[in-house]
Amino acid sequence: MKILAIDQGTTSTRALLVTPEGITPLISLAHRQHYPRPGWVEHDAEELLANLGTCLASAATTEGVRAVGLANQGESCLGWDARTGEPVGPVIVWQDDRTRDATDRLKAGGAEALVTARAGLPLDPYFSAAKLGWILREIPRARELAAAGRLRLGTTDAFFRDRLTGRFETDVTTASRTSLMNLETCDWDDDLCALFGVPREALPAITASTGDLGRMGGLALTASVVDQQAALFGHGCRAPGDAKITFGTGAFALALSGGGAGTGAVPTIAWQRAGEAPVRALEGGVYAASSAVNWARGLGLFGAWEEINGFDAPPAISRGLAFVPALAGLACPHWDRRARGAWLGLGLETSGRDMVQAVLEGVAFRTAEVMREMGPVRGVVSIDGGMSANPWFCQFLADVLARPIRVSEEPELTALGVAQLAASGAGGRLDVPVRGRILQPAPQPEEWAARFAAARQAVQGFGTFHA
Ligand code: G3P
Repeated sequence: MKILAIDQGTTSTRALLVTPEGITPLISLAHRQHYPRPGWVEHDAEELLANLGTCLASAATTEGVRAVGLANQGESCLGWDARTGEPVGPVIVWQDDRTRDATDRLKAGGAEALVTARAGLPLDPYFSAAKLGWILREIPRARELAAAGRLRLGTTDAFFRDRLTGRFETDVTTASRTSLMNLETCDWDDDLCALFGVPREALPAITASTGDLGRMGGLALTASVVDQQAALFGHGCRAPGDAKITFGTGAFALALSGGGAGTGAVPTIAWQRAGEAPVRALEGGVYAASSAVNWARGLGLFGAWEEINGFDAPPAISRGLAFVPALAGLACPHWDRRARGAWLGLGLETSGRDMVQAVLEGVAFRTAEVMREMGPVRGVVSIDGGMSANPWFCQFLADVLARPIRVSEEPELTALGVAQLAASGAGGRLDVPVRGRILQPAPQPEEWAARFAAARQAVQGFGTFHA
């Protein structure tokens, strides 16, 4: 079976052809990142839609494409006019923290217990609900449209599906990232909608992740799912406790639930195949992973990527130098959006190379903090994404996780997963051989993790520092 996979991610939109023989990238289109104010991150919805159209068209001359699968950024969302489809403003990206004060106020008012009980999620600007409430409060056109009963609010998938299939729908995995969906019923929750000021009638219908989802670009859309969840499927995770970590802009860990309760990781939906019950997962993220390494490169700490594939010096943490990659705050399990990144332990002897080594180590230590919250994880943890191409980082990660990791040799696991789901949605099956290498952990002194935790604690409460 031949499937067109579209991966609409934070930095690009890509089309890939997935067949039993393998995965062939067709086109990749980067889009602009807008940072209009500190902490704000926006995309142009029409630019994303145009790129999606180009990606769909890239398969036009390919014969025998059975269906298309769409993987989307998680929590990024917008508002638009039901009649014209015209956005009322930009896409507010998952990284954006403009709703920090609003979520702090809700927290101070004691609302977190309700949100956690119903949606399973903590109160954090990351999730869509507060962003959607912001759109209605702050964008006059959104209020006008709401008054006229013409406002649509949703995650980017709902916008794409509305504009391209003519059906105003989102899938249950994406809805589970909004903080507006009741995780038990998998339907919008009236109390949560009221809490965040989001009118339920402006929200899309929630569908399964696979099945007949309409037609997009002349093809049957048979899967629509969050990119991280698609990667989980692409990694072949199917049994409770199976876990993956994707090292993209951020590092996102997902483990299929059922292996036991997690502690600080948040419950979410992994996928729901048409006619079946939703499969559940636990999720935890590190907001800055590759973005921290890119940032260090931008500072001039290194030039070519190969330069950081190995270090002669012992780990920076063993020498008392730590970097906390809280460049966009701290997520699971600390949920402190005001924390900021920092190196701790700088001395006159510290070199730029030591500093970048500490950045890589900091991402690994933060990932280990997240994985400790996941509950029982089974066997080998699969990893993918940009940083998984760095052999030194991968081995250090295995060491701090104290468990074997499998490094995928296939970089396109999001595309693979969404294509496999789309194949299932089209009534078929798509098996693609994916190779990986296993790295065994080497024991690490316990005081290293303790030293990192002390550094991480030091950056928490930075809110008072910049206030
Ligand atoms: O939660 C955000 C996540 O879905 C974004 O992933 O790959 O687009 O950076 P990515």
